[in-house]
Amino acid sequence: RAKVAVLLSGRGSNMAALLYAAKAADCPFRIALVSGDKPQAPGLLLAEAEGVPVLRLSAKELGREAFFGQLDDKLREAGADYIALAGFMRILPADFVGKWTNRILNIHPSLLPKYKGLDTHQKALDAGDRVAGCSVHIVTPELDDGPILAQTEVAVLPDDSAETLAARVLIAEHQLYPRALAGYVSRELDPSWIEQKVGELALELPETR
Ligand code: GAR
Repeated sequence: RAKVAVLLSGRGSNMAALLYAAKAADCPFRIALVSGDKPQAPGLLLAEAEGVPVLRLSAKELGREAFFGQLDDKLREAGADYIALAGFMRILPADFVGKWTNRILNIHPSLLPKYKGLDTHQKALDAGDRVAGCSVHIVTPELDDGPILAQTEVAVLPDDSAETLAARVLIAEHQLYPRALAGYVSRELDPSWIEQKVGELALELPETR
């Protein structure tokens, strides 16, 4: 099974969705490590309680360069094949992304390429969108910009606030992320599409173990 390291900054509900999906016998990935930029992130407590190795690093204390340097070392030590960003609220340095080309996935709470960055739900409401959603994409050095692997559309209700919409999109995220990650690591996610993208973008697909 492919070994996945999850990086988070907060609550960790998407990490939990990945973790519980990985408990199924037929899941093609397992969670090898959970880490992030904030040692006190609540998501780390849950991972620990579930018996998953947790690495606590503070980006604030270490500084950006040392943080990403140590993180890279530890992810390699843990034998990670892939990195799944799950509410990791820090932009990755280009050289870090370069060391993990096509091995980093992210979940973003909008229908990319719409609404990159923060406040995605408010942006969707302000634009009067009838449909919002979430996307899983491959991470490239540009923020929220890499090839999209999978998306789920979520209807916007007339009375939605950013909070109520976010809560409903989150349910869709929890369904989408494990499925997209499983599809990617097992090469079962629309292979023709991935091959086409790989050709277009000159991407090299990682080997799975
Ligand atoms: C999720 O909605 C995720 O899509 C979003 O943060 C939330 C984290 O929640 N990520 C981003 O906005 C990344 N730019 P969680 O910690 O409960 O998974």
